[in-house]
Amino acid sequence: MRFSSITSGFLALVGLSNAASLTQVSNFGSNPSGARFYIYVPDRLASNPAIITAVHYCSGTANAFYTGSPYARLADTHGFIVIYPESPNSGGCWDVSSNAAYTRNSGANSHAIVNMVNWTIERYSADRNRVFLAGLSSGAMMTNVLAATYPDVFKAASAYAGVPAGCFYTGTVAGWNNTCANGQSITTQEHWAQTARNMYPGYTGARPKMMIYHGSADDIIYPRNFNETMKQWAGVLGYTYGSPRQTIANSPSAPYTKYVYGDDLVGIYGTGITHNIQINGALDLEWFGITGQPAATSSASGPTTTPVPSSTLATSVRPTSTSSAAPVETTPAGCTTPKWGQCGGQGWNGCTVCAAGSTCTFGNNWYSQCL
Ligand SMILES: *[C@@H]1O[C@H](CO)[C@@H](O)[C@H](O)[C@H]1NC(C)=O
Ligand SMILES: *[C@@H]1O[C@H](CO)[C@@H](O)[C@H](O)[C@H]1NC(C)=O
Ligand SMILES: *[C@@H]1O[C@H](CO)[C@@H](O)[C@H](O)[C@H]1NC(C)=O
Repeated sequence: MRFSSITSGFLALVGLSNAASLTQVSNFGSNPSGARFYIYVPDRLASNPAIITAVHYCSGTANAFYTGSPYARLADTHGFIVIYPESPNSGGCWDVSSNAAYTRNSGANSHAIVNMVNWTIERYSADRNRVFLAGLSSGAMMTNVLAATYPDVFKAASAYAGVPAGCFYTGTVAGWNNTCANGQSITTQEHWAQTARNMYPGYTGARPKMMIYHGSADDIIYPRNFNETMKQWAGVLGYTYGSPRQTIANSPSAPYTKYVYGDDLVGIYGTGITHNIQINGALDLEWFGITGQPAATSSASGPTTTPVPSSTLATSVRPTSTSSAAPVETTPAGCTTPKWGQCGGQGWNGCTVCAAGSTCTFGNNWYSQCL
């Protein structure tokens, strides 16, 4: 890639002058919510490239998601662009709770992300018909919100451990809705579907196909959100929740079960999987049609046997601000980690909130530190 043509500075320009790296873009259009835009453009960019918009978890950053999720590595192989939006909100969660978040062209975070997509399409002659979404936790909530609010922009999405679009409503920017998080926002398929449709009233065009992942042992975004999210998209996409076309055990691998409703909706539910769910980059690429057959088609011939590389993130999911945050079951209530202390990582049960003046920063899958 040509660094000189990017409008702003670079995150990591190590000695390799022609190696692609994560780069911040400052001027990408109207951005009243102040969301930050980072982009990864591989050295070997495909012509008319696809775009994956990869949306981080609470307290995550663009850089943490860039290093901790598989998409940039896969971009090196497949030549697509990865957009890493970064939350401007205190606590690093996305605004998936305000009315503006669910309203087109409202200036909210969701609008900023669409502006990033538009900037990228123009700048790199990217393929407007191959713009995809992937998100984890708060990023998965945003994935569902974007899929509902801008169904004309995104062709396919993959959401890990999120909630239905609209479920996290609080009427405030980046609020935390405990009822929803705890799996107590339960309603009908039609009500969820209408909630999503209301985010783009009157729209009758194509909608993104949705792949929904969740773990049965998720005690941060409770597993019932899997069922409710599947209801929502089943309703929107014309299926009947509870009647998948196929249920495939051990797919893509144990302990996951794949629920195939049709070409546009697949659920993947992991028994015993916590909120620290693995991102399956290979399967996402299949789902997006960047590689192989769409998952729904290929799974018709039986469970996937190809080993699927995946990566795990230390998902520090809670807002670090205490304003709208509710206590986490796994975290001693009200505790804070001092600067330099550990605040996250696989198996970490201690405090995830950093002392004032420091931020929980992803180090590796097993260690996040207050810096
Ligand atoms: C993105 O670009 C398309 C085509 O130019 C335009 O119709 C749409 O309004 C743009 N979206 C935003 C959010 O600016
Ligand atoms: C939380 O979201 C539910 C819908 O999921 C809504 O009924 C409830 O009023 C919201 N709670 C708050 C505090 O806004
Ligand atoms: C939610 O979906 C999972 C996976 O299909 C299923 O095991 C579970 O029983 C469902 N929960 C409810 C309350 O329907």
